[in-house]
Amino acid sequence: MTDTLVIYYSFTGNSKKVAEYVKDKLNADILELEPKIPFSDDYDTVVEE
Ligand SMILES: Cc1cc2nc3c(=O)[nH]c(=O)nc-3n(C[C@H](O)[C@H](O)[C@H](O)COP(=O)(O)O)c2cc1C
Repeated sequence: MTDTLVIYYSFTGNSKKVAEYVKDKLNADILELEPKIPFSDDYDTVVEE
């Protein structure tokens, strides 16, 4: 347990990789935000959402 928390949301995994890198560098805890209602897999639909 540390006093630093990295909080992130990642749709396709890029931000997840960066968040995990930052977490390791800072020796921090990490928390992934998840949408209550999942986004569509279709790009155009996600843009509309
Ligand atoms: C629905 C949607 C809209 C996006 N809009 C933009 C945008 O306006 N400008 C941009 O630079 N990238 C845009 N992107 C690309 C994302 O910012 C980029 O792929 C980023 O790496 C996604 O991070 P993630 O893998 O953690 O979800 C968009 C991606 C999605 C899926």
